[in-house]
Amino acid sequence: MSLSSSFNWLSLNASTSLAWTPCYDAFQCARLSVPLYYSDPSAGSAAIALIKSPSNFSAGSAEYLGPILFNPGGPGGSGVELVLAGAPYFRAIIGAQYDLVGFDPRGVGATTPPLSIFNSPPEALEWYAGYPQNVNESVSSFGRGHAAANILGSLAADRASVEAQAVSTPAVAHDMLSIARAFGFERVNYWGVSYGSVIGATFAAMFPQNVGRFIIDGVVNAHEWYAGVDTSSLLDADAALSSVWSACTAAGPSNCPLYASDPAAIAKRVNALVDAVHLAPVPVFNGSSQITFGVMDYTALVHQLYTLAQHPYADGAQIVAGLSALARGDASLIYQGSDAQAVSALATCAFDAGAPFADGSLDVTFAIAGGDQLRTGTLSLEQARANYALLVKQSAFFAPDLWATLQGGGSGWTLRGKDRFNGSFATQTSTPVLLIGNTFDPLTPLANAHNMSAGFARSVVLQQNSTGHSSWTGFSTCTARAVHAYFASGALPARGTVCQPDFAIFAPANGTTSLERRGDGEVAFDAAVRAIALGDFVARRRRGARAF
Ligand SMILES: *[C@@H]1O[C@H](CO)[C@@H](O)[C@H](O)[C@H]1NC(C)=O
Ligand SMILES: *[C@@H]1O[C@H](CO)[C@@H](O)[C@H](O)[C@H]1NC(C)=O
Ligand SMILES: *[C@@H]1O[C@H](CO)[C@@H](O)[C@H](O)[C@H]1NC(C)=O
Ligand SMILES: *[C@@H]1O[C@H](CO)[C@@H](O)[C@H](O)[C@H]1NC(C)=O
Ligand SMILES: *[C@@H]1O[C@H](CO)[C@@H](O)[C@H](O)[C@H]1NC(C)=O
Ligand SMILES: *[C@@H]1O[C@H](CO)[C@@H](O)[C@H](O)[C@H]1NC(C)=O
Ligand SMILES: *[C@@H]1O[C@H](CO)[C@@H](O)[C@H](O)[C@H]1NC(C)=O
Repeated sequence: MSLSSSFNWLSLNASTSLAWTPCYDAFQCARLSVPLYYSDPSAGSAAIALIKSPSNFSAGSAEYLGPILFNPGGPGGSGVELVLAGAPYFRAIIGAQYDLVGFDPRGVGATTPPLSIFNSPPEALEWYAGYPQNVNESVSSFGRGHAAANILGSLAADRASVEAQAVSTPAVAHDMLSIARAFGFERVNYWGVSYGSVIGATFAAMFPQNVGRFIIDGVVNAHEWYAGVDTSSLLDADAALSSVWSACTAAGPSNCPLYASDPAAIAKRVNALVDAVHLAPVPVFNGSSQITFGVMDYTALVHQLYTLAQHPYADGAQIVAGLSALARGDASLIYQGSDAQAVSALATCAFDAGAPFADGSLDVTFAIAGGDQLRTGTLSLEQARANYALLVKQSAFFAPDLWATLQGGGSGWTLRGKDRFNGSFATQTSTPVLLIGNTFDPLTPLANAHNMSAGFARSVVLQQNSTGHSSWTGFSTCTARAVHAYFASGALPARGTVCQPDFAIFAPANGTTSLERRGDGEVAFDAAVRAIALGDFVARRRRGARAF
């Protein structure tokens, strides 16, 4: 669903009260006017794009509980697209009492002003062509990435400093309060994953008295986010990938073409494949398809394996089939859907030369992540290498990807958000926060949920015993029930709750069984819900804005 083609957001007047217009069939859209900088209201305004899947109950009725805001992470993910795609799923889990509300954070999607760092797609493509998205591709990749990140930081300071200083997480957190107030509520209800957990934690720390029912899921260590030093993100990354190979062994040869009776044997074969492709990238040529040509290389292959560890339920079958074909010398399947292919999407002449061009991938990721850092200035190459070494210690295999697509960008970023936060997360919130972490999350380990929970008095961590990035990547009726209960009444799961997933990775999908229904008035989790869950509804991140 392409946002720009199917709805004209700029036709909506931005105002400080919410004026809803029907959009996208059953949804309503509005633009909320907020200060560009809360710390300097004279600096002008921003307009936050909002989408609403309305509650079945009217405002003012006893059943109506207000809006729940959603964020899919990124940084750079669109909350509008998330709610557009995920509303049926969220509605089934949460029930009818809430408006489900997506907003595009600053710098993202239909929110204005746009962040325009590159002048055109060809110029953006030129920068991306020189920016290694895995710093272990070659011996010069780390240094080249560092240099290119500096260029991006300089371009932003030169061309877009007013806008880039407006996209910081504390400003987005403040926007959430503005949105809730425009609905007539003083407390913010929220469900955010991944980088969305940074927004959530920032909100909870800045506005503890305004915390409503509030879930942060796939939890980032927000202390480290603001410090710009990462000793935690990849702690479970290697274990997550190993657990996928174990699932392959458990699923058997008919469900997993990479099957071996010992998961370690699968890992060994895949590692050999990665090493072979590192030295001998594989050409892909399919004259009859839209993808006419490309090269499957180490960078793209490692990233596919990272995608596998992050979304094993949704993407496992295809990626494993692609790896199996690659082992036979055919790279076309694994290339399909890879980032290498997505880069070519920029190679278009179809853009509006009369409007500012917003790339919306690494540019916005780095503007937000770089601009949040508490330290000032850029990092020297040596300092950057020292920070990178901390990531390599966690996972030598995935560190080169995550560094390139997230952490490395901060090294060259000179600007900082005008709205600041001090990075202190010890507080007592007006409603206790619910944190969710997966047993094997390759990007936001369970330990992070416990780390952040320690700061939020009375908060509870729910563990979902699945592999993947955030609870949204693996469906668990038990998690869904806990979320339902929390949003319905504020009831928290018991401390130490572990929820099992409903499905095994690589198990044949069946979304058509008659599933348990409860006659007690609680939400009935029907087959449709699980079918949506199996499809991993979360709008897949665009190239670049892919790290968290
Ligand atoms: C909302 O109301 C409509 C129309 O009465 C009904 O079809 C739908 O099931 C209701 N949705 C929920 C979530 O209760
Ligand atoms: C950090 O900011 C929060 C929210 O503004 C404030 O409550 C807290 O006292 C500050 N902490 C420090 C150590 O400055
Ligand atoms: C080549 O492209 C055609 C048309 O898009 C597609 O059906 C086919 O699967 C592709 N073949 C390979 C090997 O990718
Ligand atoms: C980089 O690649 C080389 C060659 O494949 C490998 O030996 C090394 O372990 C990799 N280093 C990291 C940090 O991934
Ligand atoms: C949480 O993580 C931060 C940053 O790594 C660390 O300084 C702090 O001690 C941790 N807190 C707890 C309770 O583990
Ligand atoms: C998680 O699931 C695995 C089986 O997939 C099981 O062996 C393990 O005990 C479970 N862990 C918890 C904490 O429930
Ligand atoms: C489909 O999945 C459900 C729930 O996991 C299971 O109970 C059922 O046996 C499965 N049906 C088939 C035909 O595999």
